[in-house]
Amino acid sequence: MLRARKHDGASTGAIEAVEPAGVEMDVQTFWRNAWRPTDLEESYEITDIEGEIPRELNGTLFRNGPSQKIQPQEGYEALHLFDGDGLVNAFRFEDGRVSYQGRFVESPTYLIEQQEGRACFAFVGVDVPNPSDKALLRQTHNTNVVHHAGKLMALVENAPPFEIDPKTLGPVGFNDFQGKIFGMSTTAHPKIDGRTGQMVIHGYQPFEPYVQLYVVEPDGTCSLAEPIETPYPVMAHDFAITENYVVFPLCPVLMDGERLMSGQPYADTLSWQPDKGLKFAIRPRTAGGQVQWFEAPNPGYMFHPGNAYEKDGKIYMDACTYVDGVAFLEDIKKWRRGEVTPQYGANPFLYEFDLATGVCRERKLDDRGAEFPRIDDRQMGYENRWGYAVLSRPGEGAGEPGYPWSRVMKYDRQGGPSAIHDYGRWHWPNEPVFVPRTATSAEDDGFVVNYVYDGTDDSSYLAILDAQNMDQPLLAKARLKHRLPQGFHGNFVAGLV
Ligand SMILES: [Fe+2]
Repeated sequence: MLRARKHDGASTGAIEAVEPAGVEMDVQTFWRNAWRPTDLEESYEITDIEGEIPRELNGTLFRNGPSQKIQPQEGYEALHLFDGDGLVNAFRFEDGRVSYQGRFVESPTYLIEQQEGRACFAFVGVDVPNPSDKALLRQTHNTNVVHHAGKLMALVENAPPFEIDPKTLGPVGFNDFQGKIFGMSTTAHPKIDGRTGQMVIHGYQPFEPYVQLYVVEPDGTCSLAEPIETPYPVMAHDFAITENYVVFPLCPVLMDGERLMSGQPYADTLSWQPDKGLKFAIRPRTAGGQVQWFEAPNPGYMFHPGNAYEKDGKIYMDACTYVDGVAFLEDIKKWRRGEVTPQYGANPFLYEFDLATGVCRERKLDDRGAEFPRIDDRQMGYENRWGYAVLSRPGEGAGEPGYPWSRVMKYDRQGGPSAIHDYGRWHWPNEPVFVPRTATSAEDDGFVVNYVYDGTDDSSYLAILDAQNMDQPLLAKARLKHRLPQGFHGNFVAGLV
């Protein structure tokens, strides 16, 4: 429940997006500021609100991202962007008001570090002298937070889901799908079927079986737990589902399992092997489903597909793809908070898989850099028209001021024009989450909600857009009382406040 004063209903009007003038900053400072951790676990009502929070928003936006309670000896600037304790942020909406609550995910390795009072496990980007022998590896549930079958789960791709209490954000414990998880982990990108409510999720690891597939029913029962046979271990961040299939990208970014298990930083165990191609394993979501392999015309790496669906004997999937794997891996290895100098980004692509002929076609949809694609999750696995992604600034490529993203684009899968909201230079919107106005409203009738880092004054604000009027000013801008570090992924849970 919201704890503070009642909203007085007064509106200060819509807010113009501004282009701050005269702000001197370089892109490295911007990244360093935006990603620096906090150890604050605050809880308060947000009262500095311009505009009006739509009263249809009733529920909680849960978001996750890396912060860090205890810094390594080298300092936070040595941390990779993927490093850091999971800090779950809960924005609770009710009756036109919104509150904030933040709490670290108190996973076993987090608690070991608090007990020892030091950073005692290797990170993605840095090694640690005298690592603790109380656990094999650091499990930082910092990537996503998902609600399914009555459980709120923090996720990271090197551990099983970790359940937390949706009210207190306090620890509940690992969720191993009634003992069905047979790999070392699941990823942070489950797909919840927009019609059946089934949660489909995969795990990957540097030893066989390299990939594992699970289906969890809406009541929490795990109805499928099988390996997907793949020829080599890759970094397999995300995948896609359709009504009847899973689409699993096998990108040519390979993991060296021996180096990884010897404790070397994850980023140093990856290699780009374009001769292996960009392959896709497509198989039915049912038990014993056989894999049909496809290969794209060009190699590439994708963190995030947008959505996939079946139509006329084909499967269509959009994704944000990095086609220059050399530049991509060079960037990944440099994504440390103190020295980030991004050179390269992903572009939106459309992949078409012909199930009868086994042919995969690809088409680049836009020359502008885009990432963190989201859709109306009610369409997950089914034909969607609209998608949302963060977008780089016009005329500014990677590495230039404003990069990587200060805008959010609503794109039309039917080929219509994109609609863009520009938050302004040195503003960095997190992944856009679409919230339908009601459970039955049209696909784009609702709100785009995210939080934004404002580099001009080093603050954070919650931003709410009308999804049908993306280029219009924000409906509401709710400024937090403290700055949040940049985050990764999250989801809105309707009705849960
Ligand atoms: Fe991700």
